Amino acid sequence: MRMSSNNNPIGVFDSGVGGTSVWQEIIKLLPFENTIYLADSKNAPYGIKSQEEIIALSIKNTELLLEKGCKIIVVACNTATTNAIAHLRSHYDVPFIGIEPAIKPAALHTKTNAVGILATKGTLSSELFAKTSATFAKDVQIVEQVGTGLVELIEANQLDTNEMHQLLEQYLHPMMEKHIDYLILGCTHYPYLIPQIQEILPKKVTIIDSGEAVARQTKNILDQNNLLHTSNQSGLHLIYSNTDVTTLKHLLKDLKVKMEIKKKDF
Ligand code: DGL
Repeated sequence: MRMSSNNNPIGVFDSGVGGTSVWQEIIKLLPFENTIYLADSKNAPYGIKSQEEIIALSIKNTELLLEKGCKIIVVACNTATTNAIAHLRSHYDVPFIGIEPAIKPAALHTKTNAVGILATKGTLSSELFAKTSATFAKDVQIVEQVGTGLVELIEANQLDTNEMHQLLEQYLHPMMEKHIDYLILGCTHYPYLIPQIQEILPKKVTIIDSGEAVARQTKNILDQNNLLHTSNQSGLHLIYSNTDVTTLKHLLKDLKVKMEIKKKDF
């Protein structure tokens, strides 16, 4: 059994910069924790890869975080969670927290009985997604849309470009025709597109993602395992990307925490 100490970092990984939307919720809820974030941007997008490839990349990221002494690992990627978390849990003895599209709350609260989901091909075609939809949304119309190209544009720091607006229009209009009242962001990159999405969708559509729920679950699991940080000093955050760090720096520019953003090969 791996010995974890309370003051070891929380490890977080994603296929790129998107998981920082989840990581930001974690550090807001757990300000004394140290964290290490891996942006595997070199291999983004994961969403078009095979399950075997996604598992292999998730193993690589996990092993680096374990080498760095992480006490818990947050898979801040819907694609890696839905395709690889079962494998990770059966091979490593640290707790893993995953992220899945927020089907359950949307299905519970919809009044139009139509809910949109924007996610990667890897997530929408996964067994876990099929199981969650069948369990929680069997009487609700789920309007699925693969967000082809969105992750690449976000990684390239092209949030507010014509190309992005055109893709979003193309993906959201069919959902509007079906009168969705909830849009589930099923990819951790997409919360960075909320302002652009809001320009297109009518105000009555509620946009939801699972970032906050993942932060709460991380806190609960640390608590249950007696692994919460013991000091009351703000945490230190190390953020590694295996490509250029311009996009990360841009996305996190307003964050007032102790963090280092560095390029690293992994
Ligand atoms: N951010 C990821 C997710 O939540 C993956 C995007 C990708 O690499 O395709 O699905």
